[in-house]
Amino acid sequence: MFDIKNELNRAAELTEEALDRLLPSSDPDYPVIFEAVRYSAMAGGKRIRPFITLKVCEMLGGDVSAALPYAAAIEMIHCYSLIHDDLPCMDNDDLRRGKPTNHKVYGEAMALLAGDALLTHAFGAAASNEKMSPETNLAALKLLSERAGCYGMIGGQVLDMIGEETPHSYELLLKMHEKKTGALIRLSAELGALAAGCRSGEKYEAAVKYAEYIGLAFQIVDDILDAEGDEVTLGKSVGTDRREGKTTFLSFMSIYEAHRRAELVTIEAKNAIEKIENNETLLALADYLLSRKS
Ligand code: IPE
Ligand code: IPE
Ligand code: MG
Ligand code: MG
Ligand code: MG
Repeated sequence: MFDIKNELNRAAELTEEALDRLLPSSDPDYPVIFEAVRYSAMAGGKRIRPFITLKVCEMLGGDVSAALPYAAAIEMIHCYSLIHDDLPCMDNDDLRRGKPTNHKVYGEAMALLAGDALLTHAFGAAASNEKMSPETNLAALKLLSERAGCYGMIGGQVLDMIGEETPHSYELLLKMHEKKTGALIRLSAELGALAAGCRSGEKYEAAVKYAEYIGLAFQIVDDILDAEGDEVTLGKSVGTDRREGKTTFLSFMSIYEAHRRAELVTIEAKNAIEKIENNETLLALADYLLSRKS
């Protein structure tokens, strides 16, 4: 049987080496910010976004080393989003990746700055991808900004906060998930394709469609795990969505129905790439993400 766990571990190692290389190391006069950045960025996590970048690149015939700086940049943006997402002014959570959240260790001001630093260095990491042309790196930066900004992840996080005050319609919930989680997962596929020199056409569209479906399934499962997951296994706080009065998939359906929905969306994801050669890893990833407990 295809060993997806092994593949994930190998890609995570590559990503962590790249992060270690690309993140700022230190300054003797203010070491605290470097520690705070690394505390969150080097703290484990599933690293599924970089995995998607590397594997989409491979599927489309590219070289993993060309995708690695982009993969690391996306993971930096993801880590920043988690630090800020956990702040008291947002989800107010104490546990992340099995450790106290960044602000619990370094305080709110430093956590805010650690997030800012990760976002900023992400652009530097992508810009200095030596395997790609300056023109391609510029295209990558534009996509990073588009997907992470107000039309992408930030937009989703804003909808998430609005949804605490005013319950969303089902349509708006889908839009929120598409942005808050979907945008970075889509970006992961887009930059993987870019690193493979593929910017349009059937294969490109297939990889992006796959990522869109995976992103939705991923956030449905995240909503389910917040309600019934185990804090130790998950490594992050549970019950936050209910406590904060968030609109989630479970505002509209039972856990059983939500899981069924995630299953159907996963089938759509797999269908999207069924005709592409070398799709085995990404097909296995779709199933793995559906059954994950962390
Ligand atoms: C958590 O993402 C935040 C969401 C977008 C749901 P992950 O579940 O990928 O978190 P890590 O990176 O594995 O910690
Ligand atoms: C966060 O969604 C998505 C981000 C952009 C960070 P959640 O708030 O549901 O993520 P968790 O459950 O805290 O990981
Ligand atoms: Mg949140
Ligand atoms: Mg949260
Ligand atoms: Mg959640």
